[in-house]
Amino acid sequence: MNYFCTMLDRIEEIKSKAKNFSINSKEQIEEFRLKYLSKKGELNELFDAFKLLAGAEKKEIGRQLNLLKQNIESIYNEAKEKFSSEPKNSTTGIDLSLPVNANKIGSLHPISIVRNEILSIFESIGFVTESGPEIEDDWHNFSALNFPENHPARDMQDTFFVEKEPKGNFALRTHTSSVQVRLMETSKPPIRALMPGRVYRNEAVSSRSNCFFHQVEGLYIDENVNFSDLKQTLYYFVSQFFGERDIRFRPSYFPFTEPSAEMDIYLGTSTEQDYRLTKGTGWLEILGCGMVDPNVLKNCKIDPEKYSGFAFGMGIDRITMLKYGIKDIRQLFENDIRFLEQF
Ligand code: DAH
Repeated sequence: MNYFCTMLDRIEEIKSKAKNFSINSKEQIEEFRLKYLSKKGELNELFDAFKLLAGAEKKEIGRQLNLLKQNIESIYNEAKEKFSSEPKNSTTGIDLSLPVNANKIGSLHPISIVRNEILSIFESIGFVTESGPEIEDDWHNFSALNFPENHPARDMQDTFFVEKEPKGNFALRTHTSSVQVRLMETSKPPIRALMPGRVYRNEAVSSRSNCFFHQVEGLYIDENVNFSDLKQTLYYFVSQFFGERDIRFRPSYFPFTEPSAEMDIYLGTSTEQDYRLTKGTGWLEILGCGMVDPNVLKNCKIDPEKYSGFAFGMGIDRITMLKYGIKDIRQLFENDIRFLEQF
């Protein structure tokens, strides 16, 4: 009877120890197996002792022992299953066998690539880079640049006005020419600067135009600057950026330059894209330019008798689209990673 009770206690003891055995790794599964299920394990020890029992006692203990065995085997099998589907490192819980997640390196946005390229070409001939605010007042965006009081560019249709007192005086800049004014107001000639930045216009969004885009403005003010300096500078730029190509200047109008011109580059019509872009003429307009109007110099406290200068402005987005054959301007601003990864 005594022996019988000891056996039952022992079965209970092993049962609870096995239940509380902490199994957190494959190594611990093996420890568990050695402790309870191996030849010299605790379960076999009990079975050996069980053989010494007789009669009714043997029957009851046998039943309990079988239950215990099933119990321990199922703990063991469950643990094995868990760790085979989750091969984790024993100490850290981290699966060191998984392939490494390669760190993705970002890339420059195509507009930044083109902007940097333009800046570095002009830097090589002495132009510095300047910047100005995106929220501008009427003076810097329009008045100082000689825009007449009722010029259509001031119209609500084109300009995003900003609710800031006095009303109607502040807007998101419609062009980077505003930075010219700031620069002339605060520095003395000679001035040789490039001014890249984002500009805003209240236009319908389509594949060819967006309500915001990027421009880069150029300004050169010194004594005796003339139109041939402008032409040579732009010719140098085109040869560096596009390679040797014909350029032409067409008379145009901007309130802040006199005379004003638009510059075209010759792409030809041999590819379908060039034919389409140039509407069959072979020529594509890429920028506006001119000699800074003496009124603008005066507005910025620069003596027009002593100094003259030229200015130009071009759309970075358009040039980017041209360079990479991008057909829809909106792609530049959707931040679709599949698109951006191509640059
Ligand atoms: N500000 C003009 C525009 O947004 C571009 C421009 C034309 C800038 C002629 C200039 C210039 O500096 O001389 O369309």
